[in-house]
Amino acid sequence: MPARPEGELILALETSCDETAAAVVAGGRSVLSSVVASQVDAHKIYGGVVPEIASRMHIEAVSGVVEEALNQAGITASQIDAVAVTHAPGLVGALLVGVNFAKGYACALGKPLVPVHHLRGHVAANYLARVSGHGHAYPDLEPPFLCLIVSGGHTHIVEVLDYTEFRVLGRTRDDAAGEALDKTARLLGLPYPGGPHLDRLGRGGDPKAFTFPRPKVAGHPYDFSFSGLKTAAVNQLQKCSVQLPPVMAATLHSAFSIDFAASFQYAVADYLCQNTLRAARDYGYRKLALAGGVCANSALRSEACARCAAQGIELYLPELQFCGDNAAMIAAQGYYEARAGHFAGYDLNASPSLGIE
Ligand code: KG4
Ligand code: ZN
Repeated sequence: MPARPEGELILALETSCDETAAAVVAGGRSVLSSVVASQVDAHKIYGGVVPEIASRMHIEAVSGVVEEALNQAGITASQIDAVAVTHAPGLVGALLVGVNFAKGYACALGKPLVPVHHLRGHVAANYLARVSGHGHAYPDLEPPFLCLIVSGGHTHIVEVLDYTEFRVLGRTRDDAAGEALDKTARLLGLPYPGGPHLDRLGRGGDPKAFTFPRPKVAGHPYDFSFSGLKTAAVNQLQKCSVQLPPVMAATLHSAFSIDFAASFQYAVADYLCQNTLRAARDYGYRKLALAGGVCANSALRSEACARCAAQGIELYLPELQFCGDNAAMIAAQGYYEARAGHFAGYDLNASPSLGIE
């Protein structure tokens, strides 16, 4: 059995949306365990997350998930140095389950309680590596760096000035990138959540078969507007289904959707990279990290890789298992929040719309 990595042990909980997650991370970098209980199947039939169902399912799952995280890490609760929890932003009822469980746990153990912002957690996914028996290669990423956060609810270009100091340079004015991908996937008849399905469908398709706009926000060169892309997808699909004779539509559907999926994802990736790399250039950053569920997207990962290589920018991408919602990223950020003395009392509340700064 390999020796346990050094550093304070943080137990973290994440319940901001539809994943009940718990993890144990040592020293903010070494993942000893990461357990994620997904609720996707329960929400699928509604085509989106139903908040009431999410809260109830978190309550059912949370104890077991925490226990499993401790078991997999091979530690007992008394060995934990602090309990971190996502307190913002997210669905209020869902957040409250994690916050209250964490309060009870920290109180019972007599350990500090560390509140973590969900988006800060996504950024911290870039610090993580899973512990293996073959030695550990941790990402050498340290602030300052630039980060593109792309999730289901947020699209931000953020300066990570220090582990707990952030400045937003750009954001979406309407839909998040993930929402646009999910909506387009739904238009193509793919199940919820559409992003990963669209990713798989588009592989091998022609990314230039269809064109989509890259809307500019006047006076805000790093901001995005994804609702225009979504509307363009609706319009193009309507036009095409009118042009296709009904008999051919069935046979052409797969080739057509593959190209459409590839083209839409290319447009999203190109748009995200364009504004982000412009910010990197203007602010002199040579290190860029991607974060959030959408950074699992293969088109975005390869577009970012190619552009960063061409411009001599060092690119950091979280492992796929740490792109979507998980608690290991919350534990990593919790470690740095604790190091900065950011603790909470037992009056900690959920903050559904708190900003990252
Ligand atoms: O970060 P995340 O797990 O949850 C939020 O904090 O919102 O992000 C979820 C989003 C969803 O829109 C989902 O469709 C998208 O990430 N997503 C993907 C992929 N994997 C997850 N989008 C495109 N390609 C993927 N492979
Ligand atoms: Zn998230």
